[in-house]
Amino acid sequence: MLAGKTGLRKKNNRMINEVTLIATATFGLEMVVKSELKALGFENIKMSDGIVEFEATLADIPRVNLWLRSADRVFLKIGEFKALTFDELFEQTKALPWESLITEDGKFTVKGKSVKSTLGSVSACQAIVKKAVVEKLKEEYHVEWFKETGPEFTIQVSMLKDVALLTVDTSGAGLHRRGYRGQFGEAPLKETLAAALVLLSFWNKDRLLIDPMCGSGTILIEAAMIGRNMAPGLKREFASERWPAIDKKAWEKARYSAQVAMEPDRKLQIFGYDLDEKSIQACRINAVNAGVDDDIVFERKDVKDLWIDKQYGIIISNPPYGIRISQFSEINEIYISLHKTFKKKKGWSIYILTADEMFPNYFKRAQPDRVRKLFNGGIKVNYYQYYGERPPLPDTPGVPTEL
Ligand SMILES: C[S@@+](CC[C@H](N)C(=O)[O-])C[C@H]1O[C@@H](n2cnc3c(N)ncnc32)[C@H](O)[C@@H]1O
Repeated sequence: MLAGKTGLRKKNNRMINEVTLIATATFGLEMVVKSELKALGFENIKMSDGIVEFEATLADIPRVNLWLRSADRVFLKIGEFKALTFDELFEQTKALPWESLITEDGKFTVKGKSVKSTLGSVSACQAIVKKAVVEKLKEEYHVEWFKETGPEFTIQVSMLKDVALLTVDTSGAGLHRRGYRGQFGEAPLKETLAAALVLLSFWNKDRLLIDPMCGSGTILIEAAMIGRNMAPGLKREFASERWPAIDKKAWEKARYSAQVAMEPDRKLQIFGYDLDEKSIQACRINAVNAGVDDDIVFERKDVKDLWIDKQYGIIISNPPYGIRISQFSEINEIYISLHKTFKKKKGWSIYILTADEMFPNYFKRAQPDRVRKLFNGGIKVNYYQYYGERPPLPDTPGVPTEL
């Protein structure tokens, strides 16, 4: 076993409260997840491709699941070791303290993946891990057969360069499932990516925000939830909510703290437009479900008719790509409209997520200040960031404030 690499630790037959958690993220968003974890008070955060690992306690699991906006899922690390043979995988998996997490009536499944490893057969790795965990639980609980009627434990075995990482999923459904989006528009963004786009922008709750092609309103709903300090997971359940290893009080406390942290009276300036009336209707329903319908004004409008009279603001948008929906000439017209509207509006920061690398050729206000490579539903996309001039500080004497 790799020294010091077990996640779940046990002493005198009792599970120790300190654990290692892994928040997974879409490639390119690891840094955003790290910043979110820092804001939640975590330190010693390590990042690798798609993985953000940090030290925590079992009681942190509720808070992390409730609050992380841009992560896909949160896993509890059980162990990590080198395994070149199935025997090694079996023995070292069996040696881990599964019984301190998985209850006698626990229902568990094993998922897997393997990259650049000798043990390349994912189904064989899954079967070996399942067998090892069953053997361990049989010995610990002195039973031959498990009812599997209790809480769910989804074990993940990830082989990377011959190192096996064993984790259990604390989230259940992916964290993008906030529970508000019943109504889909065309090609909606994942909520986790939409939240990350907002977190990567200059927007804050005091500033004006517009998405002129808002689809089902995901970017704006996520922004409103950020602006009102609403925990994105408050309206859903998590797999680990039923685990006896996590004190029920930790869940109650985290949910209560999230309730009281909300800022219901905050006034936000958020506007969403779309050409498609059905999308606008979907936005309104989604915003009601999310509890932010008073914070966003949705209106049917063609981006060509967008008229801006404010000097400062933020645009975050995800225009049609062409690959999935609109035609190229229509898309070019959209870019040209954006260029015409914003070429002289230097106080506006513009953030555009698109797979179309031609975008900067049409939006010519300046070269993008930053281009981030991200993935949207498996498609490589660029997040073009054009920074606007800063608005005057609210308390500058004699200067009218407009954000
Ligand atoms: C990729 S989708 C946006 C998805 C959105 N970000 C979401 O998460 O649901 C692009 C949207 O642009 C809208 N659209 C296309 N042409 C437009 C135009 N000329 N003016 C305004 N909206 C337009 C489409 O109706 C579609 O909803």
